[in-house]
Amino acid sequence: MIEQYDFDAIVSRQGTHAAKWEAGDLLKAWGMVERFDADTIPLFVADMDFPCPQPVLDALHARIDRKILGYSLHQTSTEYLDALCGWFQRQHDWTIDPASVIQCQGVVEALDIIIRTFTAAGDGIIIQPPVYGTFASTITKHGRVVVNNTLNEQDGVYTVNFEQFEQQAADPNNTLFLLCSPHSPVGRVWTLAELTQMAEICATHDVLVVSDEVHCDLTRADQKHIPLATLVNDDLRLITCTSTNKTFNIAGLSCANIIIDDPTLRNPFSSALGISFPSPLTLTAVTAAYQHSDVWLSQVNDYLDGNLAFIETFLREKMPTVGYRVPQGGYSAWLDFGRDSAEITRHINIKANIILEDGSASGEGGAGYQRMCVACSRSVLQEALERIGRII
Ligand SMILES: Cc1ncc(COP(=O)(O)O)c(C=O)c1O
Repeated sequence: MIEQYDFDAIVSRQGTHAAKWEAGDLLKAWGMVERFDADTIPLFVADMDFPCPQPVLDALHARIDRKILGYSLHQTSTEYLDALCGWFQRQHDWTIDPASVIQCQGVVEALDIIIRTFTAAGDGIIIQPPVYGTFASTITKHGRVVVNNTLNEQDGVYTVNFEQFEQQAADPNNTLFLLCSPHSPVGRVWTLAELTQMAEICATHDVLVVSDEVHCDLTRADQKHIPLATLVNDDLRLITCTSTNKTFNIAGLSCANIIIDDPTLRNPFSSALGISFPSPLTLTAVTAAYQHSDVWLSQVNDYLDGNLAFIETFLREKMPTVGYRVPQGGYSAWLDFGRDSAEITRHINIKANIILEDGSASGEGGAGYQRMCVACSRSVLQEALERIGRII
């Protein structure tokens, strides 16, 4: 077993169907990029260019050697749930009841089901932009109404506008709140006081809370993620979305675990999801990840701390007009160019051959920013920053 990972090493993703590295022709046809060639550095998709944890790869090899990949269920033994519950206990002091876990293909799939199952057409759903763009698109796709509780921003520090949040939660038309914790893309790890206040407001006004905690394992060394479910609030109606996709860089295996203690929420969610057969490779990978990847995660987080600090130094020295604060969580840098972001995204694509995500994709408060995925080797990150620095 590898105990020391080398995240400086560059692992080619060519020829692996990588959406981030190989979808150039598709993205051009869709009008999303103008330039995408062998020299392009794509930093817009939020997956890592690091190898997966070695225990995951070893387990997959061993599973392939069993030669048959038939219909599979995680409930055939306690191994999968034991691994998951063990992880959250060790990493987050969160005791999960295995009976509360519902496995599905991804948080996006879960959000889709939750919105269809627990809200009605025309209901308002509160989100806190600038936030993961799929929140708003899923809400509107189903004929629900986006209610923006836009975050306050002061010198790059983001906080909740509680006064507005309370008013919005008190409106009986607003029935659901999609919390992003840690928040993406602004990188906030919410404090106990902030989480408690949001939970109390929602409990008081009977607003169902969906806490999207997919970035929970990827926090800076001085930060501690607090699962909303560990707050003691018996009146809070809560669904927590967790996922291995970000933490272990296995998004291609499509897995999320949705934690719902309250059976009056769990049963309708489960019925709406129906019976699905996860890939046996997914079950193998997720089990091994949650059982044996603590060392890998700790080293990934150290490396990300280094990358995010590297950006701070680089910008201060070479691009001082670009605003940036080291995010408390996640692996995206949220860069304030202070200019029309669609135009900047295009300029950086064409002139520097780098692909970033236009901050406008994150909704209100995102214009002027670029989201950059920094989960790559430091030399690639440096090359990308130098290229951008030359044309800005
Ligand atoms: C906040 C947030 N939620 C959900 C997802 C996607 O989750 P999944 O791959 O499990 O559908 C992402 C991916 O970028 C994300 O940033």
